[in-house]
Amino acid sequence: MNMKERIDRLIEEIRQASLEKSLDRMAAIEQFRIQYLGKKGVVNELFTEFKEVPNDQKKEIGVALNQLKNEAIKKIEEFRQFAEEHPAQLEARDLTMPVDYDEPGSRHVLSVVMNEITDIFSRIGYTVAESVEIEDDWHLFSALNFPPDHPARDMQDTFFVEKEEGRQEVALRTHTSSVQVRVMENNKPPIRIIAPGRVFRNEAISARAHCIFHQVEALYVDKHVTFADLKQTLLYFAKEMFGEQTQIRLRPSYFPFTEPSAEMDISCNICDGKGCNICKGTGWLEILGCGMVDPNVLEACGIDSKEYSGFALGMGVERMAMLKYQIRDLRLYFENDLRFLRQFEAIV
Ligand code: DAH
Repeated sequence: MNMKERIDRLIEEIRQASLEKSLDRMAAIEQFRIQYLGKKGVVNELFTEFKEVPNDQKKEIGVALNQLKNEAIKKIEEFRQFAEEHPAQLEARDLTMPVDYDEPGSRHVLSVVMNEITDIFSRIGYTVAESVEIEDDWHLFSALNFPPDHPARDMQDTFFVEKEEGRQEVALRTHTSSVQVRVMENNKPPIRIIAPGRVFRNEAISARAHCIFHQVEALYVDKHVTFADLKQTLLYFAKEMFGEQTQIRLRPSYFPFTEPSAEMDISCNICDGKGCNICKGTGWLEILGCGMVDPNVLEACGIDSKEYSGFALGMGVERMAMLKYQIRDLRLYFENDLRFLRQFEAIV
């Protein structure tokens, strides 16, 4: 590249130079000045080189060189004006400025309720167990005594993860009951755990259903655990969660992993059991599923069902929060609308 071309290129470079990305504009301007117009800067060096230029080219290159110098001077002027006109932005980009402290965040209402449930059980000796969200068929269904043709195993209800060559089929867990299996497989009774976590089901999103939600599972396995222990635990939980006046009732139900199985209702905390639109006039609210752990489940997990018995229960956190704080639409939990979230700031 000859000298003229180099100068032209430098002129172009100067024209394109910008302060936009500089954090400290004054320093950037000074650096620019030194680079082009400083003692050892680009322009001076070219003037030294200019002495060697053959006479017949002196005129053309001389003109170009002066233009380069003027472009640099003009640019610096432009930069200074820009910096003067945009002082606020200059400050905003100063990384040494003290942080503009915003209001602190708060816990999400689902975390608040999940922690509350966990706390209530931890007061009577339960410890938290956590496990994977992507589970295999054994921990989700087979070990929990689901028959092979159970609808929960259907694509309709369960998100299966694409199967890889030579690997067993896995799915997003549809309930936290899988944690029961993981715990029983790896621990000897007495077992007393509470398992809060996220679960996934293939459902259309509406005010009453979501494809991601949260459950809390509890499991107690020991010698001589009876249905009476379950009932007393449930009553304790209901009173702690919804208030001392709360009453409970158990209705027979069915789950593959418990025998007998039941569903627990609490007296409606909104109308005190008189009947309102929340409890649909019945005075009762359905709260959770529970039962005595089916001996098949104990055996599948390597626990002798003649020596040990246990109970399990599982509940939906979204529903608990809905009932406790009278939230009408499930979708509010996931929209992160600050007007909704801020209502729970005071609850820790
Ligand atoms: N896994 C059940 C569900 O997802 C909830 C449940 C019911 C859990 C009864 C239990 C139980 O531990 O005993 O709907």
